[in-house]
Amino acid sequence: MRKIAQKRVAHILKTVLFSVLLLSFLTGAAQDTEMDKFVDDLMSKMTLQEKLGQINLSSGNVGAILAGGGGLEESIKKGEIGATGGFTFGAIKGSQEAAQESRLKIPLLIGLDVIHGHTTIFPIPLGLSCTWNTQLIEKSARIAATEASASGVCWTYSPMVDISRDPRWGRVSEGSGEDPWWGAQVAKAMIRGYQGDDLSKSNTIMACVKHFALYGAAEAGRDYNTVDMGHLTMFNHYLPPYKAAFDEGAGSAMSSFNVIDNVPATGNKWLMTEVLRNQWEFDGFVVTDYTAINEMTNHGLGDLKAVSALALKAGIDMDMQGDGFIGTLEESLNDGSVTMADIDRACKLVLEAKYKLGLFDNPYNYLDESRAAKELLAPEHLAAAREIAAHSMVLLKNENQTLPLRKEGKIAVVGPLATAKADLLGAWVMVREESVISSVVEGIKNVGGENVEVVTAKGANITDDPYLKQGLVSPYAAYMGVKMEEETRTAQEMIDEALEVSSDADVIVAVLGESAAMSGEASSRADISIPESQRDLLKALLKTEKPVVLVLVNGRPLTIQWESENVPAILEAWAPGSAGGNAIADVLFGDYNPAGKLTMTFPRSVGQIPVYYNSLNTGRPFDAVNKFTSKYLDIPNDPLFPFGYGLSYTTFEYGDIRLNKTALNGEEKLLATVTLTNTGDKAGEEVVQLYIGDPVASISRPVKELKNFQKVMLQPGEKKDVTFEVTTEDLKFYNSDLNYDWESGEFKLFIGTSSADVKTSSFVWNK
Ligand code: BGC
Repeated sequence: MRKIAQKRVAHILKTVLFSVLLLSFLTGAAQDTEMDKFVDDLMSKMTLQEKLGQINLSSGNVGAILAGGGGLEESIKKGEIGATGGFTFGAIKGSQEAAQESRLKIPLLIGLDVIHGHTTIFPIPLGLSCTWNTQLIEKSARIAATEASASGVCWTYSPMVDISRDPRWGRVSEGSGEDPWWGAQVAKAMIRGYQGDDLSKSNTIMACVKHFALYGAAEAGRDYNTVDMGHLTMFNHYLPPYKAAFDEGAGSAMSSFNVIDNVPATGNKWLMTEVLRNQWEFDGFVVTDYTAINEMTNHGLGDLKAVSALALKAGIDMDMQGDGFIGTLEESLNDGSVTMADIDRACKLVLEAKYKLGLFDNPYNYLDESRAAKELLAPEHLAAAREIAAHSMVLLKNENQTLPLRKEGKIAVVGPLATAKADLLGAWVMVREESVISSVVEGIKNVGGENVEVVTAKGANITDDPYLKQGLVSPYAAYMGVKMEEETRTAQEMIDEALEVSSDADVIVAVLGESAAMSGEASSRADISIPESQRDLLKALLKTEKPVVLVLVNGRPLTIQWESENVPAILEAWAPGSAGGNAIADVLFGDYNPAGKLTMTFPRSVGQIPVYYNSLNTGRPFDAVNKFTSKYLDIPNDPLFPFGYGLSYTTFEYGDIRLNKTALNGEEKLLATVTLTNTGDKAGEEVVQLYIGDPVASISRPVKELKNFQKVMLQPGEKKDVTFEVTTEDLKFYNSDLNYDWESGEFKLFIGTSSADVKTSSFVWNK
């Protein structure tokens, strides 16, 4: 009787589930048919020029946009522009109103680099990735979308999912580090945060996955430089985060500047059509990066007319800022270099994006002044920014429990970033000081309370190096609000002042690193150490023999071997965003116990780059006593701080790995467990990391690859079993035929606190 009842319930549940799935499939399909009908109907009314207008993104010049619309109204009214940029409410409204005066009244796509927040700024993406918390990352993107959408922005040029192994490249600050699996998880979280469950809602915006593809592998870490990579590395290490973002439903993609197999991505048909459309079945639209079509001329692919046709034919749907599509495609159509079907394809995809965003129903869907007044810099957004920033920080060293600081006594907070505000925001923000709640000095005062006396001094310029300085005072940096303060005092005078104010302090907090202009686009550095002016200050502070805490504000891994040997405590705070000053103080005083872990390796020296954890073995692995093995004469092979590394104010102990079986077949599941114990005296979180190695395969495989993690909170003395489920999905890779599958044989399984500090076990899995 009971069994029959159970069966009946199961049957009813199945029927309900099936009906729900069918209904959602049918609703989706119906929507697609409606969209198709709408767009086809609209396109039947469009002239060639109007179609070319839709696939043309023009922002005028950046300064002009901020001033009020970029002077583009006349072109918009003529239907020559399908998408533009904008930050201020008034400017965007002006643009949409102009579009409503065009013949067909097609609304504009308003795109912007909302990379780590709109007005409430979160830590730079590299910092966000060090939270190892996809809920928080998604939340940051959700808040960014809420704020941006209220101001009229419906499309963000984010997430940047370029894997990079080269910290010289300034744009590592915009990505999630070196790992493809984690990069994919972050990408998906950001897409969910921006796009939500319905793109037509007025508080969700369309994501644009960039820079497709491989931009992070620029030779020598020099921005816009050549990329040269084998297809196995491409598919196994660099492409997974892009694919994950498209699988998550990202609405658009941006082509990258670099070449792939010697053909710029923007004109690369194999990449844009064979891989993106045919293999991955992406159905959104692809915009170029800023003037990437025009730059193909410098790459040696021909004049503007030739490269514009090449881009369209390759699968590009929108030209950003290059005037190549609008200016040359008519001629190319007439001489047969492109077809009407090529132009229609691109135009249709752009119109579909507008349809999905609900712009045809309401061109002002994203312009809501009262919502903007409520949402921008809303207290709950700033509170989230503070929480997320604290989670992004990585404690690199803490000798003799120098940290946390006590909330009493005198603290000297020195360094060129101690009172900085704009520099806490990092690259790609349209707002500056007005978006920052507090500097580090103010944060320490706020959190330290009345028993803490805080004194401060600048102590040094960000840099005194004339070559570097000249790069930092570019008009662009100034326009972004990143100014180099002019100092009339000598370096020694500034150091003397810092020593003077610190003379009766109990502890010195040195806030050093990089100004915002030192990372981000076009901000590669060949020397990634802390600039000499700041190091001289640090050396002088250490001579006082007082406890010194180094707080790093910066946008990339730095070479800080000397600092790691000489400074007792180091906190990597990245560019922590609007609430960064308070968040740094939360961590310094232990109100929040740090749990961030590095997602990008810190090299000992630039000479080791690229140095990353998921490398292949060599035929002659390192052996200290055998000269003819893979190593340097002057430094060790291992990095200064490996991928996955980060300390806590408490300590954790890992038990040995227990596997439910060591021999598996087919689609069985493996369970791997460790007992984790909080052996310290504070509650804290640990990122327990699971890596897998495939030591015997048809191709040489990385020594280990991250496959999963769990963030576990433990009270002092508490123990917990942490169990991971491993499936054959975790064993898959692209083989020499670019087939994605796993191979039978022996595997290694590692669980630990970083990629370099793990417990090891092994198992055999056969098909
Ligand atoms: C950058 C992109 C950005 C675009 C639009 C380009 O220079 O490479 O990341 O989205 O400008 O601002």
